[in-house]
Amino acid sequence: MVSQKIFCAIDVSDLDKAKTLIKSLSEADIGIKLGLEFFNHFGPDGIEQAMSVAPDAPLFLDLKFHDIPNTVAGAVKAVSHRLKPAYLNVHAAGGYDMMVAAKQACFEGSKLLAVTVLTSLDDGALSDVGQQTPAEAQVQTLAQLTKKAGLEGVVCSSKEIDVLRNACGNDFVLMTPGIRPAGSALNDQKRVMTPKQALDLGATHLVIGRPITQADNPAQAARDILESIK
Ligand code: C5P
Repeated sequence: MVSQKIFCAIDVSDLDKAKTLIKSLSEADIGIKLGLEFFNHFGPDGIEQAMSVAPDAPLFLDLKFHDIPNTVAGAVKAVSHRLKPAYLNVHAAGGYDMMVAAKQACFEGSKLLAVTVLTSLDDGALSDVGQQTPAEAQVQTLAQLTKKAGLEGVVCSSKEIDVLRNACGNDFVLMTPGIRPAGSALNDQKRVMTPKQALDLGATHLVIGRPITQADNPAQAARDILESIK
């Protein structure tokens, strides 16, 4: 497991701004999360350029692959061997065979995580797509399937930490977004926890975006968060 517990979500569509943030945050010992928006704006070349300013910073490539096993394996192989992220993810709903194929294809230095149920889907939205199991039970089922397939962990919301830590054991990575330092703006997040609460409950890593990226001094905001979890 990488030593950095905090990954900052760099959700910007300006490459120079991303590089400035990445450089200063890596100096504060923060990992970097780049996702679909950034990848689709700038491609793998843009990721390489952005990370070139912080060659030692761990990268969480949040691309959430979901397709047939052969296609996902090909995508995971291409991107993980080229960009060597510390963490990369797929959708657990792609199934056991897809996750096993993804894991086999993944660069050995990258840890593969799964997304269980998107937090944007509630029980009603799941029912609309023919999925009658309540979200909470489905999250646990998919996390256990992820573990059985040999992946290293899941991305989970703060309210899922407790149950997944019990269901999946101590070695399982729980990468948790929806985190807000005490007193900071919620933005569009609804149910949040502070960094300390989430880690105390059993999260291994936290994804934090706007409380850092929109601060007047992002590196200082990051250092303040690190201080709060010491
Ligand atoms: O700015 P903020 O801290 O809310 O950013 C959280 C990051 O985590 C964003 O990149 C968002 O897409 C991601 N995320 C999330 N909730 C999930 C899964 C991912 O907020 N359930």
